[in-house]
Amino acid sequence: MGEQVVYTSFSIASNTKVSSQLLITTIYQLIMSDGKIHIFDTTLRDGEQVPGCKLNSREKIELALALEELGVDIIEAGFPISSPGDFSSVREISKVIRNATVCGLSRAVQKDIEVAADALKGAARPRIHTGIGTSDYHIKAKFNSNREDILERAIQCVKWAKNFVDDVEFYAEDAGRTENEYLARVIEAVIKAGATVVNIPDTTGYCLPHQYGEKIAYLVNNVPNIDKAIISCHCHNDLGLATANSISGVLNGARQIECTINGLGERAGNTSLEEVVMILKQHFALGYHTDIKTQQLNPMSRLVSDTMRMPVQANKAIVGSNAFSHSSGIHQDGFLKDAQTYEIITPEEVGADGSRIVLTARSGRSALAHRFQKLGHQYNRNDIDVLYVAFLKIADKKKEVEDADLQLLASNFEPATITS
Ligand code: KIV
Ligand code: ZN
Repeated sequence: MGEQVVYTSFSIASNTKVSSQLLITTIYQLIMSDGKIHIFDTTLRDGEQVPGCKLNSREKIELALALEELGVDIIEAGFPISSPGDFSSVREISKVIRNATVCGLSRAVQKDIEVAADALKGAARPRIHTGIGTSDYHIKAKFNSNREDILERAIQCVKWAKNFVDDVEFYAEDAGRTENEYLARVIEAVIKAGATVVNIPDTTGYCLPHQYGEKIAYLVNNVPNIDKAIISCHCHNDLGLATANSISGVLNGARQIECTINGLGERAGNTSLEEVVMILKQHFALGYHTDIKTQQLNPMSRLVSDTMRMPVQANKAIVGSNAFSHSSGIHQDGFLKDAQTYEIITPEEVGADGSRIVLTARSGRSALAHRFQKLGHQYNRNDIDVLYVAFLKIADKKKEVEDADLQLLASNFEPATITS
């Protein structure tokens, strides 16, 4: 709470032209939270929709337990009506998860909601996630319907879900392309019907960060009962903006982020959990925090990658194998003088193996001298100059010069002065 209050009051005091909209958003943020951002993990639902990533019940339970251990607040365990296998996964996960909320997805269909409620029966904290498409694309093409009918169906599905659980999350599918005025009407109505969380998905990954942020701000400023629900961001990555959009949502009043480990999800994926968590941690002065144990991020990423048989790209932020690798001479020299010159996060903080100096044709003398030293060879400047020429010959032929190559170089080298 402290940081949040200090930050916002500073903004107000230092900006005499504060707009009434910003003021409302700020007051809403202060009322709504102490800066805690709820992490809603949908690796087991949206993530599992990735072709080839299908999980069996045992794998899902193992991942759910690891997600709870990681500190996520909500685990979306599956879409119970979609298959008997998914039903039993949600049912079994509900039995073993005791701290996190377990959530089951449904369409705005009575049978879906009944089946979801059944699967969630054993959960300590059950949540039904139900909703309907609200953009004109969805209303016309998918439902061959009209806005008033969809509004009624939205209200109805929340009422059905409320018969089974207190905690009901409503999603306005394709909210990213839904006209704000209509979206606000839908959100007001579903909160009145009992929705505790309102999910504003950018289902197609269409929005730019400022547009998505403005959408959230619009809801904060135009839905009279918005203080009765938590606003959730659910952003897809079709334009590579899922993380930026989720953060923009938070800056404008959202208090829940829906995300997946390694950013897995439909098409180009969902918001990546590790990215949003580390952004909020790095920028703690904004006043937000999560309960994620960040040292578990890399082990969790590997577990998901192995279980889902889906490799993580090497340059993936936070969890990619190159996230803490330094390969160019300029970077290596700076890093060896002070790691903070090129690292804003320590590998330990996110459970990565450690920083790596990769020796390539772009590496410089300091990295080479440093590696020789690690291998037990102490050379002076002149020696390194000579060795560097030999090193570059190898590096031009190979992608990466390995320790064995250096040992060979050392064994054939006659140092001018100090020897190893
Ligand atoms: O992307 C989306 O809109 C969804 C909803 C079902 C929440 O995944
Ligand atoms: Zn989605």
